[in-house]
Amino acid sequence: MTSSHLLRFGVSIESGLIKKFDRFIARTGYGNRSEAIRDLIRARLVDEGTQDDAAQANGVLSLVYDHHKRELEDHLTDLQHDHHEMIIATTHVHLDHHNCLEVILLRGTVGKIREIGGALASFKGVKHSSLSLTATRELT
Ligand code: NI
Repeated sequence: MTSSHLLRFGVSIESGLIKKFDRFIARTGYGNRSEAIRDLIRARLVDEGTQDDAAQANGVLSLVYDHHKRELEDHLTDLQHDHHEMIIATTHVHLDHHNCLEVILLRGTVGKIREIGGALASFKGVKHSSLSLTATRELT
């Protein structure tokens, strides 16, 4: 929450749409429409912000990869060392006998985070990857 003051405004919405929205609110646990609408607006602005390659952002990259490909762990670690200034933290989980999960937190420009995320995800032996970006300037 920032120190900016609250502003009220009226919105016209079709009854069918607001019923669906109220069911969404009930399912997801929002206390009221206002908080749900504020979060939807923020989500849309963050989406928009992460389309700008030059914007500052934080990224959460998760990789599931084959534990038995020994050279792969070296490649993943080497690339992270090459970009150490952007890597905030890395967590490794041994999922089962065959699979590792690595969660990497990144900070930098949208373009650079996408570039590093793509390079890490495209190594042979990475079975699944997911990158989530947050453009914090949109949240103020
Ligand atoms: Ni492991």
